[in-house]
Amino acid sequence: MLRKILIGLLIVLIIAQFIQPPANNDSPVTADYITHSVPVPDSVMALLKVACYDCHSNSTRYPWYSRITPVNWWLYNHIEEGKHHLNFSEFKGSYKRKMRKLEETAELTEKHEMPIGSYLWIHKDARLSDAQRKLIIDWANNARKQLMQDSIRKASIM
Ligand code: HEC
Repeated sequence: MLRKILIGLLIVLIIAQFIQPPANNDSPVTADYITHSVPVPDSVMALLKVACYDCHSNSTRYPWYSRITPVNWWLYNHIEEGKHHLNFSEFKGSYKRKMRKLEETAELTEKHEMPIGSYLWIHKDARLSDAQRKLIIDWANNARKQLMQDSIRKASIM
């Protein structure tokens, strides 16, 4: 009886391997790429790519085990949720929305809420030092100032 159940489970697990979620691996650069809204210095871009892009861009670097069911679905959900909240590849929407996203970027980076803890267990390269966090925070705050100046300039032209 137990043997039959185990074999049954094994078969289900094997079949499940063939059901894969869509991969998130388009080019990160689109018409709405973050750099088209605000400047991003290379040093900051390098940090965003290594610590944030896996969940907040259109391009994830998948590790080998990411194709294994159910890991793939778990990652898929994280990525979809991350992109839904913030996507540097598609940084669009109203002025207010962009300002809020940048503010939250600074805030969550400061509070060590991002990158999320479970991700850091595996991705050691995404563990940011305080100096690296500060680079991201300062960038996000400056980017907000820049956006505000742009919007004032646009308003005064009209
Ligand atoms: C492993 C995936 C993952 C990584 C890596 C990651 N995030 Fe997130 N992020 C999420 C998920 C999932 C959410 C939505 C749920 C939540 O808020 O916890 C989120 C939410 C956010 C939000 C909130 C947006 C909103 O409007 O609610 C910001 C800002 C953010 N992340 C910034 C960052 C930054 C900056 C980095 C890199 C330093 C980063 N994240 C790295 C998965 C990730």
